[in-house]
Amino acid sequence: MKISIIGCGYVGAVTGACFAALGHEIVFVDLDPDKIAAITAGKSPIYEPGLDELLQGNASTITATDDLADAVCRTEATFICVGTPSQQDGSIDLAHVRSVAAGIGRALRQKQDHHTVIVKSTVLPGTTEGVVLPILEAESGKRAFVDFGLASNPEFLREGSALSDFFTPDRIIIGVSDDRSRRRLEELYAPIDCPKMITAIPVAEMIKYVSNAFLATKISFANEIGNICKRMEIDTAEVFRGVGMDHRINPAFFQAGIGFGGSCFPKDVRALIARAEEVGVEPKILKDVIEVNEEQPLKLLELLTAHLPDLDRKTIGLLGLAFKPNTDDVRESRAIPIVETLLRRGATVLAYDPMAMVNFRKLYPQIDYVPTAADALAADAVLITTEWKEFESLNYSGKVVIDGRRIERAREGSTYNGVCW
Ligand code: UDX
Repeated sequence: MKISIIGCGYVGAVTGACFAALGHEIVFVDLDPDKIAAITAGKSPIYEPGLDELLQGNASTITATDDLADAVCRTEATFICVGTPSQQDGSIDLAHVRSVAAGIGRALRQKQDHHTVIVKSTVLPGTTEGVVLPILEAESGKRAFVDFGLASNPEFLREGSALSDFFTPDRIIIGVSDDRSRRRLEELYAPIDCPKMITAIPVAEMIKYVSNAFLATKISFANEIGNICKRMEIDTAEVFRGVGMDHRINPAFFQAGIGFGGSCFPKDVRALIARAEEVGVEPKILKDVIEVNEEQPLKLLELLTAHLPDLDRKTIGLLGLAFKPNTDDVRESRAIPIVETLLRRGATVLAYDPMAMVNFRKLYPQIDYVPTAADALAADAVLITTEWKEFESLNYSGKVVIDGRRIERAREGSTYNGVCW
């Protein structure tokens, strides 16, 4: 099948490359000329392990353009993979979705052949049918589910493991309201052996939000329990090892630490909170999930100032800037509130991250970036904020180390106080 992918970020680039690997012809569309140039050169526009090789290996069936109309006219299906960031009040920003839907609608007006539009961007329930559909119909003059197909197909990709999450997912969720769209999506995903749930479009949209909100809740729950265990000097990880043995609970995502970052959990939980309030429901638990997450990094600093009361003109090493290991992405990284506070208290920050220093420097050009983890260890105290593998083999002896991500080695010889347990 000929498929167009609108938006070449973390979701679009992976989705297009993986469908190319499954034998489809892919036309990537983006406004950013650098992304188009990268894909045209067989380079991934984002960091994701294995993505370069996938793009290079399928270069003969991949093109990239900024001409959305041409891409829609040349293909049979279009995935909308543009960002849906948070607005100031936490509600979802649909500007990119709206403008891309209008462009696709205008292209559909020129097309005779049937076309399927698939919303993969994370959008609140009611958006595909309530926002995208009317724009497509108005701009194309055609009827949804009759003259063109429309579906919701949310993604469950984790940065750093996105390719395996695409090819070996726990499940595929397909939200459709017409048979032809259902058949097209079933055909696209036929090669992937996993449970496939065919459901109504708003249900598919909600499954995405509830999945992320629940995972975020698990993490904030683990952090609250971790804070209690810390005071009682009980090993939190051991507690959750036992708790997770209950088949109803499952041990994953109970790693207590300084909280969750990334472009998804914070944004999606905030959007769901905003929507809940719009429909007249007070989302108490979801609000506390965010509150616990926002306070958690400050627990690290409380432990630091217990050792080093006055941070003014002290040098603090920061090990880890990415929101999690194996990515260069710093969006909502827990290192951000920590750096903010350190700077406010007059500390000098020596930051190190194997991949994310370039991106973090765009946010904080005023702090020092050091070439190795050992350079950061030379500081008066060291904070561990991302659990990069290489941090497991550093020599922490004699150091004040406050560990926010449970690096086992950090205990050896250091004056140690981790927030994780
Ligand atoms: C997440 C969801 O996992 C994925 O299904 C969805 O499609 C997109 O959002 P991602 O944000 O890439 O994926 O990373 P993830 O591995 O989920 O980690 C998110 C954050 O939670 C990271 O900051 C990580 O450090 C933190 N985390 C994760 C914890 O603090 N404790 C845990 O036990 C797990």
